[in-house]
Amino acid sequence: MKVLVVGSGGREHAIAWRLAQDARVQTVFVAPGNAGTALTAKLQNVEKTDLNELADFVVANDVAFTVVGPEAPLAAGIVDLFRARDLKIFGPTKAAAQLESSKDFAKAFMKRHAIPTADYETFTDAKAAHDYVERKGAPIVIKADGLAAGKGVIVAMELAQAHEAIDQMLEGNAFGDAGARVVIEDFLTGEEASFIVMVDGNHILPMASSQDHKRLLDRDMGPNTGGMGAYSPAPIVTADIHDQVMREIIRPTVDGMAADGIPYTGFLYAGLMIDRNADGTASVKTLEFNCRMGDPETQPIMSRLSSSLVDLVQAAIDGRLDEVQAQWDKRVALGVVCAARGYPQKPEKGQLITTLPEDSESLHVFHAGTKATAEGTVTNGGRVLCVVGLGDDVRSAAEKAYEGVKAVHFDGMQYRTDIGYRAMK
Ligand code: AMP
Ligand code: GLY
Repeated sequence: MKVLVVGSGGREHAIAWRLAQDARVQTVFVAPGNAGTALTAKLQNVEKTDLNELADFVVANDVAFTVVGPEAPLAAGIVDLFRARDLKIFGPTKAAAQLESSKDFAKAFMKRHAIPTADYETFTDAKAAHDYVERKGAPIVIKADGLAAGKGVIVAMELAQAHEAIDQMLEGNAFGDAGARVVIEDFLTGEEASFIVMVDGNHILPMASSQDHKRLLDRDMGPNTGGMGAYSPAPIVTADIHDQVMREIIRPTVDGMAADGIPYTGFLYAGLMIDRNADGTASVKTLEFNCRMGDPETQPIMSRLSSSLVDLVQAAIDGRLDEVQAQWDKRVALGVVCAARGYPQKPEKGQLITTLPEDSESLHVFHAGTKATAEGTVTNGGRVLCVVGLGDDVRSAAEKAYEGVKAVHFDGMQYRTDIGYRAMK
């Protein structure tokens, strides 16, 4: 069978690599892919991003199904377009993808269905927004309504910062249309975790838990990024918390979308804030929804998946997710992102990657911003690679990953040295 993965990041390399492990799979096409997907066995890049051309490619090449990695093609309606042409695809429709593509949609949805999240209001008028933050005080969180590649959230510890963010989004047009509306919400405290599930419209299959590190620098300092490293499982997601999240957040979300006439299919990612109470209970709130898997969370999660991803995706597309189970490697997987100089503001491109470690059963290198050229593999984006180590605990997984990172060389490489530190206490 031939399958297609849409996207070009580390997440897509990991998904494609895992799909290729199934003996029934002859080729995994990756559109547009990167140097890693160009060089991995059974994977083949396709230089296409136009959605109609992708659908034509699927027909012409007898592709059994398509898995979509990033949010942009989902928000642009790739699932609607493929379904209209009777092509099998795993992902949410354009309407369902609003859970990620509009913060206002997601917040109003959560409010309507009593799904725990921070209190908020939405504004298009700058004066009303300024008045609101004056009344509320700091810390407070300002979010651009639309997709802003992870940059549209300002956690304002001081009022001045909140006012500045409002001006930039509503008056300075800093995020274009995405920032023409802002959501202003209460500041939450606690520890974050990523909770990702597969959904077929009704049934839910949870993926292994994970946690990422969004800040650029060690000890969670510096600017927010797309994610500098991640590990799975996340010890903070105990069996009790898992059940609570399924009961209070995931099940009501899937049911609520169906009740609203927008059944949800695809990967669903809830960003959680978990706050432990003195009596041992916890309050868990939804920070955000994503309509896709996380990057870099996918790299450790796929490294641990021991069931066939082909079986899971096919079951999801056919509405039979209740009939399958996901098995996980007992080991911890931990991924460290190797980023380019200048990331996240202005990543430098075109540096030759002179050495890479060998993949083994406990080490995987997933490519993100890389490009194959006649001179060799060169950097081509902010997050260049994600090196995943597996080990019996977080510490040994980290040792393995950092051993791999030491074997990576390109000019200007930056990475965090403390991925997983919260789980090592
Ligand atoms: P989001 O894209 O909505 O997940 O926001 C990006 C990051 O901003 C999150 O991972 C949190 O670290 C932080 N954040 C978002 N919303 C809040 C909130 N209400 N309180 C505290 N931190 C938040
Ligand atoms: N790592 C966070 C995200 O994918 O949104």
